[in-house]
Amino acid sequence: MNSNELIDTPADAIAAVVHADPYPYYDSLRRGADLVFDERLKLWVAAKAAVVEQVLAEPRLLVRPLHEPVPRAIAGGSAGDVFSRLVRMNEGEAAHTRPKLALREALSAVPLDAVADRTRSLARAMMPRDADGLSAWTFELPVSVVASWLGFDDAQLPAVAEQIGRFVACLSPLSTAAQIAKAHEAAAVLVEEIKPLLAEANGRGLAAEVAEQARAVGWTDADGLVANLLGLMSQTYEATAGLIGNAIVALLRERGKRPSDIAAFVDHVARRDPAVHNTRRFAAEDLSIAGASLKQGDAILVLLAAANRDGDRQFGFGHARHVCPGQAMATTIAAAAIEALLNAAPSILDQPLRWAYRPSANARIPVFHHQGPNA
Ligand code: HEM
Repeated sequence: MNSNELIDTPADAIAAVVHADPYPYYDSLRRGADLVFDERLKLWVAAKAAVVEQVLAEPRLLVRPLHEPVPRAIAGGSAGDVFSRLVRMNEGEAAHTRPKLALREALSAVPLDAVADRTRSLARAMMPRDADGLSAWTFELPVSVVASWLGFDDAQLPAVAEQIGRFVACLSPLSTAAQIAKAHEAAAVLVEEIKPLLAEANGRGLAAEVAEQARAVGWTDADGLVANLLGLMSQTYEATAGLIGNAIVALLRERGKRPSDIAAFVDHVARRDPAVHNTRRFAAEDLSIAGASLKQGDAILVLLAAANRDGDRQFGFGHARHVCPGQAMATTIAAAAIEALLNAAPSILDQPLRWAYRPSANARIPVFHHQGPNA
């Protein structure tokens, strides 16, 4: 990044995700029409809270294109198999509504105080010593907490976190062929490692709780259950790294000032500089919405990070039927992680840290380093 980029306007709503300060640009998009077609991106763009809300609530706008339920690049392998069963990537009673209910019920029963304790103790054990270590920590800590809660032993956590990192790498349009090959391998390994968590004798963690809720709601697809337990870890991985990372950036900008209420500080970051900047929806049929006429197959880029600044509502965890069921867990983990960093002596936050954003089309995740300009 050169210094000019610090003041440039982002080229488009996808470049905005990793721009140093995309928020004035998002403000300008909100002042425009309700839905605007970006010719270069070939996407409709929604930035206003009312429009984002309407788009996410519209049943004819789906999380996947009708004719490509699994991205072509990963279809046919283990990662594609997992992807095809995730609630995040499906609509309808059998593959979304019912499994989502089981996940939501199981996650809402998680005792958040105990999650915070587990996070603090893992955070201390994994405490980073330098900028590279800090970047890795923002990913490994939250996924380790969720893996631990699912029922994995402490000794398994580093390998599980690494495999989730490999799996997630295939989900981006920026993935390489080598990353996709590794993601298939990782998915196959993770599926086998998750199965024992569901055995009666091991029925102590969140995995067993989800299985119990699955029985209660009549969700009978065993492969779907395993895929969605993997999904809880993959959904955690980048998004929570982004929330922790963006909270660290906010602390570095306010050097020396310790927030009096860390949970409130993390909630503020989640709204003002969120981890997930956008999501997408695809028209299942020709339809009119927010004054625009969409054709079947048209895609909408839904700017959650722009809508977050339009009134008081929080859109950073989505809205309506696909809303994130992990918000409370994510913010609890992030707050406990930040607390552990602030309490460490010496704290890495006392070192001169800089950051740039990891290339991504939707997630804003800082990578820390010791020299050079900030992104
Ligand atoms: C800061 C961290 C997180 C952020 C910003 C975040 C954000 C989101 C967003 C925006 C969505 C909706 C996507 C859409 O509608 O297109 C979503 C869905 C989801 N999230 Fe999260 N998430 C976070 C952490 C977590 C965690 C920790 C878990 C699980 C333990 C989780 C589980 C899920 C699941 C299962 C879905 C799919 C829900 C559905 O499709 O019905 N997330 N998340």
